[in-house]
Amino acid sequence: MNYHEYTTGIYLATQMMGAKITIQLTLAYLGENYRVQIDPAQYHSLMTLISDHLAVPGFGLCCGMGSCATCLVEIAEAKTSFKRPALACGLQINDELSNTFVFIPDKIY
Ligand code: FES
Repeated sequence: MNYHEYTTGIYLATQMMGAKITIQLTLAYLGENYRVQIDPAQYHSLMTLISDHLAVPGFGLCCGMGSCATCLVEIAEAKTSFKRPALACGLQINDELSNTFVFIPDKIY
């Protein structure tokens, strides 16, 4: 069982018990931190979450088709300084994003 299967199993088991799962993460944009608390089923992807919370000019131009790279962000775990790049439209909201910092570039182009 890999990590994704494990976290998905926990998510489904928790839902069956009627408990609500909440994911918390921080969006970092233009020097400000925006703490977000969401239900994982609330958004199709990290890109839609960002688009819903922040007005970032030029962000997500291909609407999640994976062809523009304007949704490129950097993701860091809360306790590390290592940032990994990722296309936000390719990331589902799940426990893997819990307590992470998502850095959105100040300028897309
Ligand atoms: S929105 Fe275009 S690649 Fe993600």
